[in-house]
Amino acid sequence: MKHTRSETLFVEAQKVLPGGVNSPVRAFGAVGRKPLFIERGEKSKILDADGNTYIDYVMSWGPLILGHAHEDVVRAVTDAAKDGLSFGAPTGRETQLAEEICFATGAETVRLVSSGTEAVMSAVRLARGYTGRDKIIKFEGNYHGHSDGLLVKAGSGCLTGASPDSLGVPASFASETLVASYNDEESVRALFEANIGKVSCVIVEPVAANMGVVPPKAGFLESLRALCDKNGALLLFDEVITGFRIAYGGAAERYGVRPDLWAFGKIVGGGMPLAAYAGRREIMRMVAPAGRVYQAGTLSGNPVATAAGLATLRILRENRENIYPALEEKGAALEAAYKSAGIPVNRVGSLLSPFFAQKAPESYADVLTADLGAFAAYFGKMLDAGIYVAPSQFEAMFVSVAHTSKDIEQTCRAILDR
Ligand SMILES: Cc1ncc(COP(=O)(O)O)c(C=O)c1O
Repeated sequence: MKHTRSETLFVEAQKVLPGGVNSPVRAFGAVGRKPLFIERGEKSKILDADGNTYIDYVMSWGPLILGHAHEDVVRAVTDAAKDGLSFGAPTGRETQLAEEICFATGAETVRLVSSGTEAVMSAVRLARGYTGRDKIIKFEGNYHGHSDGLLVKAGSGCLTGASPDSLGVPASFASETLVASYNDEESVRALFEANIGKVSCVIVEPVAANMGVVPPKAGFLESLRALCDKNGALLLFDEVITGFRIAYGGAAERYGVRPDLWAFGKIVGGGMPLAAYAGRREIMRMVAPAGRVYQAGTLSGNPVATAAGLATLRILRENRENIYPALEEKGAALEAAYKSAGIPVNRVGSLLSPFFAQKAPESYADVLTADLGAFAAYFGKMLDAGIYVAPSQFEAMFVSVAHTSKDIEQTCRAILDR
């Protein structure tokens, strides 16, 4: 496969964009390759600037559960765009989207924002405002976007770049973030005991998916619920990845644990820049203008993005009986192929990660044992076989409704032949 046009575009991009990209992991830095520039996507496939086609398992890092350019979503977007791109005033569809989110998840009130980062950052502020406490507990290797207080022992691109923290975060901000070990109830208990009456919330990716996929151990999420209740703290599920993905009602449905607050992103925006935070009415009524926790956005609830999210969530609701079992089946087929190839794998529904390690990780420490050179070699072979997986060991594969059984078979063959 030739990538000359992508290479030229990357050279040009590096002159005007830091590292040539607008989000770090896109640069392929961890796999020793140059990024592909993408021209178009259709269903399960993407086409790069050199005319190569790939079966896509990045799927815009999760939003595209229905596949690229789903015709109903594209129609909803183009129809909305014809009526105006933005008003900065309320529109009826924002309420409809909030209703879809509440129906699926059990949340009672929703605020629409424009990115997952913004959703989490605002939900944390709300937890602090509601409890009157400043500290938060997060887990190492969990990623919650790039707001200051959450770039502490973070996953995703921070792990890929071998720097789980970021320059530019004041030590005073970071000191309000207490870091626990994922899947380790005792580490959370110890932080609560050392900070009595100071912790506003525990924020968790219910399925860790930014250090590769690491599912919660049986009872882990329940233990967080119990520890929060005992200590008067809120439980905040960051379902930016898991929401509408690992079940129609996300992790809260799949594991039967109800948080006080949720952050959503990716799928709720149907591929457009839209995210949300949501929760119990009693807490959410503190958000301005109803209450005194301030949060605002020029493009919040943008009509075009809202149309994309609404079309997506409606399709998921109307077809959930078929969609989620089918996603599970496709995910299971890929999992089986990795296992047959002797590669440990973690999977929850249509979210999975093969690990180039001795065993499928259960913790952040396990994740760090992965052989990144072996991952890079696997990545290159998959790409050369026309399969586009995330360019980092510490990201997930996303299977969509649009992946056909032929796509899955071709991918399984590539895994076994690599
Ligand atoms: C779990 C989780 N939370 C928050 C974010 C941040 O979302 P965004 O990139 O839309 O700001 C991400 C992004 O990947 C994520 O995976």
